[in-house]
Amino acid sequence: MAPPETNNKNVLDSVIYKYTSSSTQSDEENKLLKETLNKLREEIEKLKSPPLMVCEIKELHEKTAIISIPNGNQFCVNISDTCGKLRAGDMVLAEQKNLTVIKVVPTTKKFNVEKFVIVEKPTVTWKDIGGLDNQIREIQEVVELPLKKPELFKKVGIKPPKGVLLYGPPGTGKTLLAKAVAKATGSTFIEIVGAELVQKFIGEGAKLVKEIFEMARKKAPSIVFIDELDALAAKRMEIGTSGEREVNRTFMQLLAELDGFNELGNVKIIGATNRKDILDPAIIRPGRLDRLIEVGVPGKEAKLEIFKIHSKNMTLEKGINIKALVKKMENFSGAEIHAVCTEAGYFAIREDRTMVTKDDLVKAVSKVKKEEKLEGEDYLRYFG
Ligand SMILES: Nc1ncnc2c1ncn2[C@@H]1O[C@H](COP(=O)(O)OP(=O)(O)OP(=O)(O)O)[C@@H](O)[C@H]1O
Ligand SMILES: [Mg+2]
Repeated sequence: MAPPETNNKNVLDSVIYKYTSSSTQSDEENKLLKETLNKLREEIEKLKSPPLMVCEIKELHEKTAIISIPNGNQFCVNISDTCGKLRAGDMVLAEQKNLTVIKVVPTTKKFNVEKFVIVEKPTVTWKDIGGLDNQIREIQEVVELPLKKPELFKKVGIKPPKGVLLYGPPGTGKTLLAKAVAKATGSTFIEIVGAELVQKFIGEGAKLVKEIFEMARKKAPSIVFIDELDALAAKRMEIGTSGEREVNRTFMQLLAELDGFNELGNVKIIGATNRKDILDPAIIRPGRLDRLIEVGVPGKEAKLEIFKIHSKNMTLEKGINIKALVKKMENFSGAEIHAVCTEAGYFAIREDRTMVTKDDLVKAVSKVKKEEKLEGEDYLRYFG
């Protein structure tokens, strides 16, 4: 048996231990509760505070700035001291009540442009394009020659156009031409779609245009291809809604970019549209996209060439009268001729064959024709 005094000491020790440990435990609990309380308070503050408005700095004065709010209206406002250094063009957050500028938005200063445009080194060659010899020659003169031999133009003493406009119905080879010239010149191909530019970037379209051209200069030689140019550069009767104002601003920036660069630099612009009739004449004024190239529906010979291009890797039955077949493809575009080849291939696959027969092709022609008719009817229903 242990001596009694030792026993008493043990009991005391354990009481002291219990007391101190329970006090540190409650300290900890206390600390935890305080932290939670603070977090909840912060959360409530967040829920109570009104949202800040995203605006653009237009001009800076000593202690004030002129900002433009998203609907296009402009105000002269104060700048908070916490804001740091500002520059015109910055996107900032402003209090809703008095529009005092609180903070710069760091992310919108610089887009990751490459996310929004398609940048590629195309593989389309001139040989992949059928029936557009004149158009190819023209685009070579205007885009390829100045990129490859700028000194020639200096000697002759003329300035080549800065860009070209390809116009014509859908599926006739406009995008193909632009890609082929990029391939022929070893240029970076930067593709923007007009409609997307104005829809996605309300408030930022103009900035994006600026940055796309910056990127084009960095990656030069490059070709900036603007598809559906009409979405951006359509004639406007009056500029009413803020959406229209925004499109107009984006368009103005495009014109400014076009005016700002050198004809003999190594950035070229190719625009494409199905609706040349509605384009704002400002875009095709001399010094801008002043070479217009029509890319129309292919004629007899052209259709034959296009068919040959798309069927060159197919196993065709011997003795098909291609000329007679092509005759059936009235008003077909290059894209539709391509579709005929693909559909005919499917008819063969469905019957477990690898050889495509005349019958497959004839059926494919009527299928594509039917689809075209349906599309035409839809078009008339909506727009006719
Ligand atoms: N002249 C052509 N030679 C060979 N293939 C063609 C030709 N025209 C069109 N095609 C085929 O049709 C497809 C679509 O062509 P493309 O994208 O160049 O048309 P587009 O004129 O740009 O049409 P959209 O106005 O609808 O943009 C091509 O990928 C190609 O397969
Ligand atoms: Mg196209």
